[in-house]
Amino acid sequence: MKTVLITGANRGIGLALVQGFSARGDHVIAVCRRSSQALDKTGAQVEAGIDVTDDDALAHLAQRLGKSRIDILVCNAGILTNEKLGGIDQAALENMRRQFEVNTLGPLRVVQALLNQLSEHAKIGIITSRMGSMADNDSGGYYGYRASKAAVNAVGKSLAADLKPRGIAVVLLHPGFVSTDMVNHAGDVSPEHAGTQLIERLDRLNLKDSGTFWHANGTPLPW
Ligand SMILES: NC(=O)c1ccc[n+]([C@@H]2O[C@H](COP(=O)([O-])OP(=O)(O)OC[C@H]3O[C@@H](n4cnc5c(N)ncnc54)[C@H](OP(=O)(O)O)[C@@H]3O)[C@@H](O)[C@H]2O)c1
Repeated sequence: MKTVLITGANRGIGLALVQGFSARGDHVIAVCRRSSQALDKTGAQVEAGIDVTDDDALAHLAQRLGKSRIDILVCNAGILTNEKLGGIDQAALENMRRQFEVNTLGPLRVVQALLNQLSEHAKIGIITSRMGSMADNDSGGYYGYRASKAAVNAVGKSLAADLKPRGIAVVLLHPGFVSTDMVNHAGDVSPEHAGTQLIERLDRLNLKDSGTFWHANGTPLPW
């Protein structure tokens, strides 16, 4: 049985990951701002009141976890807004900064806060997006989201290098186009399907592959 910690666990892909890991008997620590009925039903250890941009909340989380050891950490919490050229006003700039706080600095803060809890040979999955890929961007727009996901890919690369001596592997994972609130349920795969594929990617992750970028379906993605 592994201990798995997941952020953004109350809905969407995070909830599906909680359900998937719980179903195979892993101990899941479900981190969220506010729990949901669906999350409460999973039987996971719910740690609510945690905003990934709040250092104090993360420090308290680490304190509460104490000597618990995390084998798999999934940084999943994220937000998306669409800023369009010609409309980059103060509100749009604020949205861009907010996406950077949540999508880029969030995973870095979470990993740093939980460094003492990560087990030897732990695995870290960062849920990024292919929208952060330079090579894949032929449709433009989404200035803040794309930049924040490209930047979290850079964060993941540095984490992979920094944590290698501890035997900890880090992977950047695109979940697919998933039917969740984030995309107004317009995705072409269910959260459950994406969750199953993401768990498979994490199971297969080893130190040799640390710092790489994958589609959940098993295709390597270009930066
Ligand atoms: N859906 C897709 O097609 C797709 C594609 C590529 C990548 N992704 C990525 O997949 C991840 C999960 O997205 P999703 O589709 O499941 O979206 P979602 O249904 O909108 O869920 C987002 C989750 O992130 C949490 N969250 C947002 N801001 C937070 C904060 N400041 N602190 C803590 N938690 C916060 C939300 O919690 P609250 O309920 O408290 O807001 C929620 O649990 C994201 O990183 C997203 O960028 C999704």
